[in-house]
Amino acid sequence: MTTVAEHYANHLAPIYLWMGGGPVVVIETGTTEIEALNLPLKDGDVVLDLGAGFGMHAIPLARRGARVTAIDTSAELLRALERLGGNLPIQVINDDLLAFQSHVTETPSAILCMGDTITHLPDRNTVESLIERASVELPSGGVFVVSFRDYSVPLLEDQRFIPVRSDDDRILTCFLEYQPEALVVHDILHQRTPEGWQTRVSHYRKLRLSPEHLIASLQSSGFSVRCERGMRGMVRLVAQSV
Ligand SMILES: C[S@@+](CC[C@H](N)C(=O)[O-])C[C@H]1O[C@@H](n2cnc3c(N)ncnc32)[C@H](O)[C@@H]1O
Repeated sequence: MTTVAEHYANHLAPIYLWMGGGPVVVIETGTTEIEALNLPLKDGDVVLDLGAGFGMHAIPLARRGARVTAIDTSAELLRALERLGGNLPIQVINDDLLAFQSHVTETPSAILCMGDTITHLPDRNTVESLIERASVELPSGGVFVVSFRDYSVPLLEDQRFIPVRSDDDRILTCFLEYQPEALVVHDILHQRTPEGWQTRVSHYRKLRLSPEHLIASLQSSGFSVRCERGMRGMVRLVAQSV
């Protein structure tokens, strides 16, 4: 099984901005989502973005005046974030998000784990532990935002082939292979080269988390939870520390 970090380093990171429609589209999409969230933030508040990628949410938050710590295991995506973020107050950290507490130097007002990042964690116990640790770091009124795809109900047969994006030079298709607690996501990439079409395939594992399960975990860690429709077919949970 390819690890998540390997899958991003060798397969997804070089095409990740393209997958989302290019830098302008993805930052606009992130900006719309941050505006919809309407987080209770003041200028200069600290926000942690766990699995920040190229900064889809970190950049709009920093533009709104937050000081953002963006953590990700993909060095290539963090380089893209630094390029797109320019001089914005974003501290980029190349590390496992599970080590986020070692990078907390000031109490954060919000912690984000968005864009289906939480399903990349190895198992449910790790998810519970992340939620518990987020609740420890946040003050009363602080917000933990999780957005993810609900894979709890399996797609069947041909529905498991998902066209992600295509243009004249590239076609990306996903194939989902369901297991009881997880799914294996196969990313099939066709790229035009001077020698003709080249096909590359890589896979990684994601957790099948249901909104109900995550809501219950957040509540038992002391959050009050709002569940809403997120961007691009995701579920968004906005959990406030009580
Ligand atoms: C689906 S992308 C979402 C990126 C970003 N949050 C967004 O909404 O565009 C998942 C990101 O999480 C990162 N990631 C996955 N597991 C991680 C881990 N354990 N620690 C740090 N980053 C991780 C990946 O490198 C990737 O950038």
